[in-house]
Amino acid sequence: MTLFTLSALPTAESRAADLAAGKARAEALCQICHGLDGQSTLVDAPHLSGQPEQYLVIQLEAYRSGQRQHPQMTIISRMLSDDDIANVAHWYSSIRVTVEMPE
Ligand code: HEC
Repeated sequence: MTLFTLSALPTAESRAADLAAGKARAEALCQICHGLDGQSTLVDAPHLSGQPEQYLVIQLEAYRSGQRQHPQMTIISRMLSDDDIANVAHWYSSIRVTVEMPE
C-alpha cells in the first residue's frame, strides 16, 4: 500500500501546456517583476527562466494554497487557474539560459 500516488503530484506534463498562452499570461501578470524573459530586474524577485517546469508549478501551487507565503505572490497566484500555472511554467522553463563559471 502506498500513501502517495503519482496522479496526486502536480505534473505540468500531464496537461497540454500552451506556450503562447503562457507568454501572454507572463506579459500581463509577471513581467513587471520577473521580466518576460524570466530575468528579474528587482533585487527581491528571483529569476524564473530555465527553472524546471515542475518546480515552477509546485511553487505556484504552494503560493496559491497558502503553503508558501509571500505578500505579492500569494495575491498573484490566486489570479491563476490550473491551466495558467501550467502555461506560465511552460513559458519560463522553455527559455534557455547559459551559465559561465568564474575562472
Ligand atoms: C509584484 C512583483 C511580482 C509579480 C508581478 C510576480 N512575482 Fe513572482 N515573485 C515575486 C517575488 C518578490 C518573489 C519571491 C517571493 C518569496 O520570497 O517567496 C517571487 C517568487 C516567485 C516564484 C518562486 C521562485 C522560486 O525560485 O522559488 C515563482 C515561481 C513566481 N514568483 C512566479 C511568478 C509568476 C508566474 C508570475 C506571474 C503570473 C509572478 N511570479 C508575478 C514578485 C512578483
